[in-house]
Amino acid sequence: MNEKIALFTIFGGTGDLAKRKLYPSLFRLYRKGNLAEHFAVIGTARRDWSDDHYREIVRDTIKDLNPTTEEAEAFSSHFYYQSHNVNDSEHYDTLKKLSDTLNDKYKLGGNHIYYLAMAPQFFGTIVQHLKSQEILTDNGFDRLVIEKPFGSDYDSAYQLNEEIRAVFPEKDIFRIDHYLGKEMIQNISAIRFANNIFESQWNNRYIDNVQITFAESLGVEDRGGYYEHSGALKDMVQNHILQVVALLAMEPPVAFSEAEIRAEKVKALQAIRLYSEKEALENFVRGQYGHGKLEEQEFVSYREEPNVDEHSQTETFVAGKFLIDNFRWSGVPFYIRTGKRLTEKGTRINIVFKQVPVNVFKDDIDKCGEKTDLPPNVLTIYIQPTEGFSMTLNGKEIGQGFTTTPVKLDYRHSAETTGNSPEAYEKLLLDSLNGDGTNFSHWDEVAQSWRIVDIIRHAWDKTSVEFPNYAAGSMGPDAAFDLLARDNFTWDWQP
Ligand code: BG6
Repeated sequence: MNEKIALFTIFGGTGDLAKRKLYPSLFRLYRKGNLAEHFAVIGTARRDWSDDHYREIVRDTIKDLNPTTEEAEAFSSHFYYQSHNVNDSEHYDTLKKLSDTLNDKYKLGGNHIYYLAMAPQFFGTIVQHLKSQEILTDNGFDRLVIEKPFGSDYDSAYQLNEEIRAVFPEKDIFRIDHYLGKEMIQNISAIRFANNIFESQWNNRYIDNVQITFAESLGVEDRGGYYEHSGALKDMVQNHILQVVALLAMEPPVAFSEAEIRAEKVKALQAIRLYSEKEALENFVRGQYGHGKLEEQEFVSYREEPNVDEHSQTETFVAGKFLIDNFRWSGVPFYIRTGKRLTEKGTRINIVFKQVPVNVFKDDIDKCGEKTDLPPNVLTIYIQPTEGFSMTLNGKEIGQGFTTTPVKLDYRHSAETTGNSPEAYEKLLLDSLNGDGTNFSHWDEVAQSWRIVDIIRHAWDKTSVEFPNYAAGSMGPDAAFDLLARDNFTWDWQP
């Protein structure tokens, strides 16, 4: 197996992300042989932990992957803990000493990945110290992996980027958008560029509209403190959803390489119409969940969640329409919606095709004796919880006479295959070890996404809405349905 050699320094090593995602993903890589003898992990955070305690925690986080005792011991023996205050220069000297020791002990060739899994206000000071305290070396590689949010608007993102770029070149910055590590998001490119049947029709002559839904059944849980400042627009639309829009809308890259894909994604994002604030209000709606009930379970309203203001104006739901002003997409609305406490967890994309030019079956009568319209062909890409795609077509109903009936070609991975497919973080960690930035957000993409989102945010901040405006357990406020009805469309949401 292709063994990777590196020292990981994880800032925020005691945090939730490290425990839920990073340690299990590192273990999966270890189990597959991508990490073997020549790797080590330094976990840093303010807490005062011993190596033994840290290793115990690490072993606990991989319990569900059923390692043998020897495997768990061997894996966790590569983990070291260093208590650390990110603002204190002296602490970086200690970190450097430990890095050097581990570099020698595990023969890491100076390869270093710095993973910032903590609040973004510390990113700047950490990278500056990595340079000033000479932790960065000329041996091997130095790569920076950063979690979102990357800024809270264009200006703050720009500022943050300047601070980081003063230390790391763009090629060594890996801005995580974990959706880009998901199997079916990566599959968008395969569906588009490996199937002539789709790519030849992937334009405004054949596609009526595109619908992207990122629905969550969970509420805000214990993240009220963060979410109050973020809301659904910055939490989901600025990053995950716009990345997906870019992948769906971009031109075919001349090669499937990081530079080519990135160039096409940036062009697609630049073609998204920048609304005036008035247009933003017409084309984007927001919601906040109130108290509700689903399958006998009662849910409190967002305003009753911990660390949430009782008069909060934060949106937990967004729906909107993007327009892309280029030859391929002119006139095709890209509808998006995302929200918390919706009916079910479901992330999917519908490509809704135009009707045939003439419906020769227009005298079709359905079982109730009503005349029927042909339903549109819809290509649905299921991101989660099931992974796969389906295509709805029209066929003839079996029997005497001639009545059309919708037929669904469904290809979804069995639970078993899905279970075996690598977790998003595992793929992204391996990409960062390989120095492959294809599935990360580059600065130009982040910047353009903020430009788009800032306009909506500013427009919303100047106006208020009556919240709550949708019940927990529903599919969002009426306004989200009206948005499509206005254009004579409906959200397609079949099981
Ligand atoms: C995160 C958001 O980026 O994505 C969360 O901060 C959201 O609010 C999560 O719940 C959804 O990710 P996934 O992979 O569970 O769909």
